[in-house]
Amino acid sequence: MKNIKITRKITQGIYALTTDGGGCIVDAVSQVSSGENPLISVAVMKKNNTNDLLKKNKKFAISILSRDVDPEIIKTFGFNSSRDIDKFEKIETICEEEIKIVKDSIGYIVCEIVDYIENDTHTLFIGKVIEADVFNDKNPMSYGYYQEHKTDLFKVTTEKGKTAWICKACGYIYYGEYLPDDFRCPICGVSKEYFKKESVN
Ligand SMILES: Cc1cc2nc3c(=O)[nH]c(=O)nc-3n(C[C@H](O)[C@H](O)[C@H](O)COP(=O)(O)O)c2cc1C
Repeated sequence: MKNIKITRKITQGIYALTTDGGGCIVDAVSQVSSGENPLISVAVMKKNNTNDLLKKNKKFAISILSRDVDPEIIKTFGFNSSRDIDKFEKIETICEEEIKIVKDSIGYIVCEIVDYIENDTHTLFIGKVIEADVFNDKNPMSYGYYQEHKTDLFKVTTEKGKTAWICKACGYIYYGEYLPDDFRCPICGVSKEYFKKESVN
């Protein structure tokens, strides 16, 4: 492989995928067909709790996030699992078609799952759009923009003398003085070498 980073130039957005009981941040969303009830696909890692929830609920919503979205939304949905926390506790939502939509978004799409395809690591869910709305005309956040700005987005505010390690691949933040040698990012799986140290003295 000469340079896999070219995949970052595929134009994808950053979305909050939600369903009853949880959800997660995704970029792997695409419109498969057009018409009155188009088909939308979303690829969800099998290890994510959202994958299990989607298979149970057979329905999801995608909230389209803007460039000025509150980074707490990305942290809550993208760096945590709904196995451990209630992701909706601190995030403002509205309910549409019995699904929680992130209020701080450009708009949303609600889909009923009509099919899914499994591969080794991900399930590709295909949903038929049953409801959608536009809230505002803000600029959507692309995956490329996220990659370029994630350090600023997650500017670490550590207490004096404390240290944080930021994953250069996905933005996940580990708090602690030392990063163990065998440490792997719990979100994207990269090794210790990908972490940048931030400390306030
Ligand atoms: C910028 C960004 C993009 C992501 N894209 C995807 C994606 O397309 N598919 C996916 O399954 N997970 C993606 N993730 C990872 C999940 O959001 C993350 O693993 C989440 O903690 C899973 O939570 P859950 O266990 O509650 O489902 C992304 C995370 C970030 C920060």
